[in-house]
Amino acid sequence: MTDASHSPRAWGRRQLLRTGAAALGGTGVGWAAGSAAAAAGSHEDSADATLTVQPEQGLRTVAFHGAHQAGVSTTPQAYLTLVGLDLHDDVDRAALARMMNLLSDDAARLTQGEAALADNEPELAERPSSLTVTFGFGPRVVRDLFTGTSMTLEPLPAFSTDELREEWGQTDVAVQLCCDDPLTLAHCRRMILKDARDFADVRWLQEGYRRAIGTEPTGTTMRNVMGQVDGTVNPAETDTDYDRLLWSAESGFEGGTVMVVRRIRARMDLWDKVDRVSRENVVGRTLDNGAPLTGTKETDTADFGATDDLGLPVIDPASHIARAHAQTPDEVFLRRPFNYTVPDPSTSTGEDSGLVFIAYAADPVKQFVPVQRRLAKQDRLNEWITTIGSAVYAVPPGAAEGEAVAQRLLAT
Ligand code: HEM
Repeated sequence: MTDASHSPRAWGRRQLLRTGAAALGGTGVGWAAGSAAAAAGSHEDSADATLTVQPEQGLRTVAFHGAHQAGVSTTPQAYLTLVGLDLHDDVDRAALARMMNLLSDDAARLTQGEAALADNEPELAERPSSLTVTFGFGPRVVRDLFTGTSMTLEPLPAFSTDELREEWGQTDVAVQLCCDDPLTLAHCRRMILKDARDFADVRWLQEGYRRAIGTEPTGTTMRNVMGQVDGTVNPAETDTDYDRLLWSAESGFEGGTVMVVRRIRARMDLWDKVDRVSRENVVGRTLDNGAPLTGTKETDTADFGATDDLGLPVIDPASHIARAHAQTPDEVFLRRPFNYTVPDPSTSTGEDSGLVFIAYAADPVKQFVPVQRRLAKQDRLNEWITTIGSAVYAVPPGAAEGEAVAQRLLAT
């Protein structure tokens, strides 16, 4: 604690924390136990009763430690920053272990609303806003530096529709930062990169977004920039084979997973020319509520065999959902994408936008690759989308309290 924490301004901040704690009492939302204790009340609390704030969302925390890293099964937050890092040539296993110590320690603090170790802006850490930090390692690191595991990781194969750009390519390390508040997110990114800079260079940053928190009921499926309800058919934690599909059983890597990153550009200028009925046929679902064209509600099961009065399929067999639908129980993975929009004055729309498509699977070769192959071969959506970046990362299991992520995989 610095002296600043005893200043009147700092007292005001504690006051906010307590007000939030009281507001949250008994809701079971995960957030700092220390603040909960403070909520028990003191004279200070009633001193400023006129202060009406609702900081519940800002105070929410997601546990950093556990069997799995946070940010995979975690309900997607509003904002994403995905950082791609390349390790310096002289970074060996021991050096990477040192880097992960620093990064894990600060990630553990920041996600719980505490300042990083050498934090010059500690106030920016006070609204964790469901911040998660998830670490992944590219094929080279898994091959050359991981030890004591049967885990292997191959780069994704080439797909015919890809137009990959080196600038969005495979890196040694990926750090996925997700948060409901953009300022907390930016601060966490800065702290993490400050820790990493003696070991690695930033190759790319991919920023993404969903709707701002509080704008729609929790649990609403996201909409992508093309206007579609995106994320309906996705494994749920209650599914019997969820664990098998998501978490690795490889020795020394149990509870880890693999992150697939695809940067997919959407040609919004061309999409603008497509009428609503055609847009719905391209995907196989309605635009207003995301129901399959054979149903009325978003959660209705698509009937790919249904035909209309003329005997034609109601859902076009070349539509996105008909092509992407799992054809075996193994072809299932967790999609956790975010929209992206970056300025691009060279286009008529003034932007480059699409999806930072992130998917998690225990084994992407069995689960993701066959689906992506089928989509590359045929998918009506391909007329408007192009994959311009691709990478794959081994995401180690979660760290125990006092441990760094990947500690056992980097033991010397
Ligand atoms: C910009 C690119 C993409 C857009 C705009 C998009 C959009 C959508 C939409 C609107 C749906 C229907 C709602 C839902 O169930 O989520 C959907 C379903 C799906 N998408 Fe995509 N998608 C894209 C890329 C991909 C990629 C790259 C893959 C995997 C290789 C993929 C796999 C799936 C799967 C598995 C489903 C569920 C299919 C089913 O009904 O069983 N999508 N997507």
